[in-house]
Amino acid sequence: MNPSRRKIIVVGSGIAGLIAALELSKQHDVTLVTKHELAESNTRWAQGGIAAVMFPDDSVAEHIADTLRAGAGLCDPEAVSVLCTEGPARIRDLIALGVQFDEHNGELARGLEAAHSHARILHAKGDATGLSIELALVHAVRSSKVNVMEHTFACDLVIECGVLTGMEVLQAGLRRTLSADAVILASGGAGQLYRYTTNPIGATGDGFAMALRAGAQIADAEFYQFHPTALATGDTFLISEAVRGEGAVLVDTHGRRFMQAIHPDAELAPRDVVARGIAMQMAAQNGTPVRLDATVLEQRNGKGFLERRFPSIHRACLARGLDWTIDPIPVTPAAHYWMGGVRTDLHGRTSIPGLFAVGEVACTGVHGANRLASNSLLESLVFAWRCANLLNDDAEWQSERWSGPGPQLASFFQLPSETSVLTRPVSRTALQAIMWDAVGIERNGSTLRAALVQLDSWRATGSDLDSLETANLLAIARVVTAAALARTESRGAHFRVDYPETLEAWHRSLVYSTAAQTTV
Ligand code: SIN
Repeated sequence: MNPSRRKIIVVGSGIAGLIAALELSKQHDVTLVTKHELAESNTRWAQGGIAAVMFPDDSVAEHIADTLRAGAGLCDPEAVSVLCTEGPARIRDLIALGVQFDEHNGELARGLEAAHSHARILHAKGDATGLSIELALVHAVRSSKVNVMEHTFACDLVIECGVLTGMEVLQAGLRRTLSADAVILASGGAGQLYRYTTNPIGATGDGFAMALRAGAQIADAEFYQFHPTALATGDTFLISEAVRGEGAVLVDTHGRRFMQAIHPDAELAPRDVVARGIAMQMAAQNGTPVRLDATVLEQRNGKGFLERRFPSIHRACLARGLDWTIDPIPVTPAAHYWMGGVRTDLHGRTSIPGLFAVGEVACTGVHGANRLASNSLLESLVFAWRCANLLNDDAEWQSERWSGPGPQLASFFQLPSETSVLTRPVSRTALQAIMWDAVGIERNGSTLRAALVQLDSWRATGSDLDSLETANLLAIARVVTAAALARTESRGAHFRVDYPETLEAWHRSLVYSTAAQTTV
């Protein structure tokens, strides 16, 4: 037997988890734990695409500059450089794994999204990029030696004398412990914190909450990105930014464009600016959603363009009784992507030996205060590969240690102590409403404080899957709210109406850990 063969658990089956599991299975015994079916994840819902420099008129330097600009001063420049430099090679690896990106005249087709200086967004089957990637990788994993445990919920990490030895899971109603030499969290985000979200029902931040309980360092929790355009028909189906990239415009109830007065880039301004612009406009029209007018694209590109370019969105609109080739459609912002997460270095190491994090659950520093559109699939791809390569290298494994992230400034913050004496069981719906109202697109000190008091008055009860997820959401909600209260400025996706300026004194990440706070 190869002496360096080890047991590794990967949690999550989006692009990050599937790539990590595939690569690691070349060297180790890998078990992939996922709480629903293998092909269910946040990745499969990604529409717009994946950003990478694949064209001669573009450059890595410009992709880096766009990413840093969007991140509003909080990106780790080293992590951004890794992302943009290694991205093109990883895209070629994806293509070799069977992902078929769309082509135009024999070359990769590309779209434009907000805050990108070049059209560099690769897409597949029009707007089904995430699904195409997910299905290709699921096929590869099913054909590999990875041991897949579906319908299995990751409950908690097992750490003995400071050493990670495994993970507790819930499967078919029974708890059991899986032993492991390393656990890789690739469990995605926590969109279910909010009443309106583009994320699927499973996005309950389980990996983040596990790491939090185990004392891992977490960072940038206050930065939650709201996508400007989800269908305002009750289920907040995502309407890709690529639609605005093609030229669709936002209009008020009178059919007038309003983004031009807010930002010179209008509908293609940074995501936080467009989301706030829409929220302001909706407030001015008594909560009525604004409309996205894509009809011009049919006029400009010919009948059938919208169906050809955005087949999933076209079907989703028709299923909801909307014909977007003829009428503007109602849209509203919705929680979309969490920039914060478990703090890692450039190989996915966390502050707990043996625990790694990749994808949305991680905070690598590439997104800073505001993620550049279509950089998230790329981040998952690049950093899952780096993490797996580290663990496939025996010498690296022997010397495996947390070196902390790059040189960006950071400081610890504390959670205010819980004061509630009388407590009630938490309701997920009430939690989502509080997060939307108080810790959403706009925040202010008094409502954040009131939200924390409310959150502290709730206790999680129950041991079934739904209750465990809600307990995780409650733990995360406290951290997000406390971080939002602590950051008395506005930056990127974090907007405080009582502190609207961006301040040099806050040019640093906020880090939290329940463990001893020795290194930042
Ligand atoms: C979209 O298609 O608008 C989503 C892309 C992203 O969030 O990166």
